[in-house]
Formats: sequence, C-alpha cells, structure tokens
Amino acid sequence: MNTSSTRTATSLFLRAAWGENTPQAPLWLMRQAGRYLPEYLAIKARSSFWEMVRTPDLAAEITLQPLRRFPLDAAILFSDIMTPLPAMGVQIEFNPGPVVAEPLRRAAQIEALRLPETREIAPYVAEAIRLVRRELAGKPVALIGFAGAPLTLATYLVQGSGSKDYEDFRAFLRQEPALAHRLLHKLTELTIRYLRMQIEAGAEAIQLFDSWAGLHDQEVYRSFGLPYNQAVFSALAGLGVPRIYLAVGASHLYPLLAELPCEVVSVDWRTPLDQVRQFLPHTLQGNLDPAVLLAPPAVITQEAQKVLKSGLGGAHIFNLGHGVIRTTPPEHVAHLVEVVHQFNRHNKHNKESA
Ligand code: CP3
Repeated sequence: MNTSSTRTATSLFLRAAWGENTPQAPLWLMRQAGRYLPEYLAIKARSSFWEMVRTPDLAAEITLQPLRRFPLDAAILFSDIMTPLPAMGVQIEFNPGPVVAEPLRRAAQIEALRLPETREIAPYVAEAIRLVRRELAGKPVALIGFAGAPLTLATYLVQGSGSKDYEDFRAFLRQEPALAHRLLHKLTELTIRYLRMQIEAGAEAIQLFDSWAGLHDQEVYRSFGLPYNQAVFSALAGLGVPRIYLAVGASHLYPLLAELPCEVVSVDWRTPLDQVRQFLPHTLQGNLDPAVLLAPPAVITQEAQKVLKSGLGGAHIFNLGHGVIRTTPPEHVAHLVEVVHQFNRHNKHNKESA
C-alpha cells in the first residue's frame, strides 16, 4: 500500500463519505476559503478573481488558508463552478458573482459552444490540486474537487447573471426544451471530463454543486436535472473517490434525489437530518444554518449539537447548509470546529437526550 492509500483509508472524512458511522462527525465548511478571512482579502486586494483561480500558487494558497487556522477534516479546492466554461468559448466576468457577456438563448449560440479536450479545460486546476496534495501529504485532511451541476451552470449561462428567481431561465426551459437539452448534454460531457481530470490530479472526493436545483418542481427536475446528474455520477463510478451532491432549498426533491448514484447528499438547514434520512440512503452532509455562525458561541454550541444529534441515525459529515457568510467572525468558526470534534456520536446518552 502506498502512503496516499494508507491515508485515504484512515481519513475520518473519507470513512464517513463511504458510509461509515464514525465516532466523530468529520467537518468542513462550504466557502471555508473566502471573504470572511483577512488573509483571503489580502490576496484579493492585489489580484482579480480570475487571477486567483488561474494561478496555481494562489489557488493552492487560498485553499490551504482555512486549514492553517482550523483543524478541518477536508480542504476544498479554491476555484469556482464557472471555471471550466471559458474553454467552451463563453466569456465570464465576476462582479462579485458570475456575469456572462452574452447570455445563451439562441440555437446558434448553443451549437457554437466548443467541447474542449480534457487537457484544454483548465490545466491550472490540475496543477493547483497537485500543489495542495503535496502540502497535505501525511495529514488526515482530504482534498475535495468540485464542479457545477449541468442544470446550475445552464442557469447562469441562460440567465446571464445572478438573480433572485432566475425567471428567464425557467421560461427558457419550457419555451425551448430541445435547446435546453442540447445545452445540458454539452455541459454534462464537459463536467465529466473536468471532474475526471481533477480526480487524476489528486482530488480525493468530488462535489457536484447544484445550487439552483431547488428552483424547479419535480417534473422539471426529473427532465432537466436528474438524468444529467446521474450521467455525471455514473461516469465517475469505480474511480475510488466518493461523490457528493448538493442542492439548496430542494427538500421537495428529496424523493427523486434517492435515485442519485452518489455516496453523499448535502442538505440545507430547512429540514432536520433525521427527517431527510427517511428519503435518502446516502451519507448526509450538513446542515447548520450559516447564519448561526453570526450568533455568540453559546448559541453556536446549542445549534451545532442539535444538528449533531439529528445526524446520529447514520453516516454524517458536518457542514453548513450553504456557504460561510462574509461577515462571519473567524473565531466563531474555530468554536464550531471544537464543538463538533468534541461530540462523541457513539455515546448512548446522546440518543436518549436527542
Ligand atoms: O467552498 C469553497 O471554499 C471553495 C470555493 C468556491 C467558490 N465558489 C469561491 C468563490 C466554490 C466551491 C464556489 C462554487 C460556486 N460558485 C457556487 C456553488 C456553491 C454555492 O454557493 O451555491 C456558485 C453558485 C458559484 C457562483 C458564484 N461565484 C457566486 C454566486 C459568487 C459571488 C458571491 C458569493 O457567493 O461569494 C461567486 C464568486 C466567488 N466564488 C467568490 C468566492 C470566494 C467571491 C469572490 C470575491 O468577491 O472575493
């Protein structure tokens, strides 16, 4: 056994991801690198967002920043869900969210999208992954790679920028279903190539971010979301890395998510984990409300313990229900990590008081 597989076998995060009911819940936080950390803001003051993403040294450094402060169980590569799209010929800026120069609405635009070879997609991401793995060698910290789910990428490409409800995109799906499927097919193939590349470079788990899946009803999700997510996950089966799916505001979709061929489903704070387990056989990830981290430590302890108790019925990876909020005090994150690591999931007393 080489050193990397020895570590793989013992990482608390990977054990829980593969379904083990571990004595402690491993934890990492979505957006654990980012604007609430002064050291991130210092780098951001001298570089554009694309520079940070496209310079392997910077991306690796930002990925590692939260790990230097907090004993988290996983790192997530610093990048963005929009990273692989310029290789298709789409122009994207960040302000601070993604803005697409020419939103895709017409057949000719969708036909013109290139399907790049794997090595053309984002070679700097592979390099950043290699750098992070080198820094983490010998430490019990797993590196998570990620991509946007096809439906969520299409949401930005068609709508053109962030929006509260993405009405233009929702209308497009109904008005131009064949075009939408054409776009989703291309995005699915791109995502498969991109994630395989990340795994080859050293990502030890991958997460598919379907942040806007919850906008849709079951019928729309069954047609435009589920089959493409299934295709991405199926293409990554047997590669030895656990697959994580995240949707936000999507509790009405849980019965359908049971059909996803992945190991972990990340859930938001709107539904307690013990209720979600009735629908999903997966390891559950989540689901503290990120707003709790704005409250004083005593509140954080109480709310985190509720989540931990609610997660006792099966394998659990502790996380927030969505990303860390920009105004979160870093010392509140430190406190949360301590509360989660001190909680013994195998203590019988927990269940009695749950
Ligand atoms: O989780 C992490 O720590 C890794 C880094 C990461 C970023 N984006 C960095 C980033 C990840 C995993 C993403 C994924 C991403 N990007 C998603 C899915 C996750 C989610 O939050 O639902 C989405 C929807 C995007 C699109 C995006 N990129 C938005 C909406 C924004 C702007 C506002 C925001 O929420 O931060 C971005 C820019 C972006 N991506 C920033 C960071 C740290 C902020 C850039 C800055 O102003 O410093």
